[in-house]
Amino acid sequence: MADQPKPGSLLTNIQATNGEELSDEGSISIANLLARYLQHKTCEDLYAKQKEVFGHLGALIDLKSQNPLNRYSVQRSSVLLHLLKRHPDFEWNALQGARCLDVGCGGLNPLGPLSALVCAGAIECVGIDQDELADPSLAARAIYNYCAALLCRNDVNVHQSELHSMIERLNGFDLEKLSRGDIGGIDHSRLSYKTEDFLFAELEQSNFDFLMSTSFLEHVADPEVIIERMSWLSAPGAFSVHVIDGCDHRVYGEPDLHPLEFLKTETNESLVGGCNRMRPLAYRKLFEKHGFEVRSVSIDRHVSVDSALVEQFSEPYRDMEWPDLEALVVVYFLRKP
Ligand SMILES: C[S@@+](CC[C@H](N)C(=O)[O-])C[C@H]1O[C@@H](n2cnc3c(N)ncnc32)[C@H](O)[C@@H]1O
Repeated sequence: MADQPKPGSLLTNIQATNGEELSDEGSISIANLLARYLQHKTCEDLYAKQKEVFGHLGALIDLKSQNPLNRYSVQRSSVLLHLLKRHPDFEWNALQGARCLDVGCGGLNPLGPLSALVCAGAIECVGIDQDELADPSLAARAIYNYCAALLCRNDVNVHQSELHSMIERLNGFDLEKLSRGDIGGIDHSRLSYKTEDFLFAELEQSNFDFLMSTSFLEHVADPEVIIERMSWLSAPGAFSVHVIDGCDHRVYGEPDLHPLEFLKTETNESLVGGCNRMRPLAYRKLFEKHGFEVRSVSIDRHVSVDSALVEQFSEPYRDMEWPDLEALVVVYFLRKP
C-alpha cells in the first residue's frame, strides 16, 4: 500500500505508486491516473481507496472556512447539487447525456456548478453571461477544488454517482492543469463559457435538457422576454431550476438595511440598484404563461413585514398581499412538458 500522500504532492505520490510517467508537458490527468489506480476494485474498495488517496485533499478543502457568498468557494458551487438532491421529483438519470445551460452564470466562477453536472453524466454544459471571464486562473482553480471535493467528499458528492463513473466522465479534463490555474485543463467539448447577451446568443431551439439560473432573473429589466427565450431553448421534458433573490442587494454591503428597503423608492426605472424588484413569487405566472409546468416553489428566505413598513412602500408594492412581499429568496423547479 502506498504511503499516505503528503499535502501538495498528490500527483507525485500517485505517480510513484503506479510507475506512471509525466507527459512531456509535465502534465498528467488525475482522472486517468485514478482510473488505472483503482482498476479491478469492487465498489466498496473504490470508496476505501477514495478516502486513502484523497483523504488529505478533503481535509485541505475545509468547507466550513469557505464563505458561500464567495463565488469561488466549493460551497457556492455546491448550491445547485444541494437543491437537486433535496427535490424528490428530480430524475438523476435525466442528466445522462444531457445538454445543460446556466444562464447569467457570472464571470467569476462561471463553470463551477456545471462541473457537477459533467460528473453526473451531462454531455455538454454551457455557461453564458455578458461579463468577460474575470480571472481565468481563479476560475480554473475553483473548478479543480470543486471536482476534487466531488471526488473525495461524500457530503458534496453527486447523488448516487459512483466514483469510477465520475472519474470516467472527467477523463477529458486535466485536473492537474486546472489545479495550477490553467483554464486549458477544461474539456471544452463538455464544458464551455460564452461571453454573450443571453437574448442574442446563437443557441439552438429546444437544445437544452436542463436549464438553471442563480441570482440572475432579478437583474434583468424584462424577465418575461428572458423566460420566453428559456422556454424556446428547452427540449420537451427539460428540467429547470431558478433561484431568485428578491432582496434589496444593498443588504450584502449594509447588513442593517431592511431587505425590502428598495420597495420604498418611487421611480419609473425598470432597475433599482441593479434589480427589477419583481417579487419572487410573481414569476410563477410568467413561467406558466411560457409553457413551463411549475413542479415546486420553495421559499428559501423570508422576512416579516408590518403595516408601518408596508405603508412606506411605493406602488404597486404597498397594495400587495403580505406573503408575496415576505418571500425573499425563492427556488423554482420547472418542467417543460
Ligand atoms: C448576480 S450575478 C449572478 C451570477 C451567478 N449566477 C452567481 O450566482 O454567482 C447576475 C449575472 O447576470 C448577468 N446578466 C444579466 N443580464 C444578462 C444577459 N442579458 N445576458 C447574459 N448575462 C446577463 C450579469 O452579467 C451577472 O453576471
